[in-house]
Amino acid sequence: MDIPSLCTAFQLRFGRANTFVARAPGRVNLIGEHTDYNNGFVLPIAIDRDVALVGAQRDDRIVRVYSTDFAECIEFSLDAVEHDLQHGWSNYLRGVADILQKAGYRLQGFDAVMQGDVPIASGLSSSAATEMATVMAFVASTHGSATSLRLDGVRAAQLAQRAENQFVGVNCGIMDQFISSLGTARHALLIDCRSLDYQMVPMPNGATVLVVDTTAPRTLAGSAYNQRRSECEQGARVLGAPSLRDVSVEEFEQRKGELPALIARRCAHVVYEDQRVLDAVDALRRNDMSAFGELMYQSHASLRDLYEVSSPELDTVVDIVRGQPGVLGARMTGAGFGGCAIALVRDEYTRAVRERVESEYPRRTGRTPKVYSCVASQGASWSTTSSIG
Ligand code: GLA
Repeated sequence: MDIPSLCTAFQLRFGRANTFVARAPGRVNLIGEHTDYNNGFVLPIAIDRDVALVGAQRDDRIVRVYSTDFAECIEFSLDAVEHDLQHGWSNYLRGVADILQKAGYRLQGFDAVMQGDVPIASGLSSSAATEMATVMAFVASTHGSATSLRLDGVRAAQLAQRAENQFVGVNCGIMDQFISSLGTARHALLIDCRSLDYQMVPMPNGATVLVVDTTAPRTLAGSAYNQRRSECEQGARVLGAPSLRDVSVEEFEQRKGELPALIARRCAHVVYEDQRVLDAVDALRRNDMSAFGELMYQSHASLRDLYEVSSPELDTVVDIVRGQPGVLGARMTGAGFGGCAIALVRDEYTRAVRERVESEYPRRTGRTPKVYSCVASQGASWSTTSSIG
């Protein structure tokens, strides 16, 4: 992201110099899919793609934001935060403003220019990045005032998730906002989505995360996501557990006969996926990259066959890379129904694998993929002309 040219854009549009820069990254999840809303474990990384807000505080209660990506400017008052049907992107900012205020925080208006290089609507959490960048902008714009906003990273993520759940109306879990808030360079985070405790797990040396955007439309994502959530809740109810997190693999194997077949398949995915996350962390800590990669393949198969959230395009990507020299593992990442797949590839083979995907995927699907290399990066941050947060 070219922050200096965003500062120039701010100066040109608003006729004054910016006083803060706020940013937050997108994410890819290495393993642990559809486990967060079951109170389980996830292992995401923040990626080196951000949403940034470059701005300056105002002394009234107006928020004005120009999005360079949409070439649109929105404006709202903090005293009457409403949905905007015309400029959908602005609801992430409005939602954060609304939720922070409902949680009792006193906000200050600001002007800002916004830009992102997290691909939109492709499963890399550009919405969580926008929400977290907005939280950071409100922190930065109240900095130094009597009502300066102080939030730790976990609380900030919880509020951003609440904005997505309650204002935007998407019933997501905590993973995306959490990793966007607390991601750490060169590390994945093992997040316990019940206690919200987390541990940094070093990324392996010598391996690259390759992200393949299938560029297929993500139809059904919302409705099927909610349906999966309620199927999991149903399973936990029948098993008498507060959530599927509380069901061990052994207990599940003993009692799965009590569940309707479809619910049993959904629960099997979640129960085994939680275990796979813990096994994957062990593998990373032992630097056993083949074991880690094998768990990625197992996760993908489970999401495809048991949880049924993959797509032909995602399966095609995994199929193309599997068995290629240097590929340690691959799987879909995020909610599914389109979006992105990831592959963990030994550095020296990254180029060959990318070329293989770029030639083979269009031949098999008729679509052009977008392939990125990603680096585990730092979570949300802000700085002002006088301090850094
Ligand atoms: C989306 C949601 C997350 C998580 C994943 C699936 O990214 O926003 O909370 O549930 O899907 O693992």
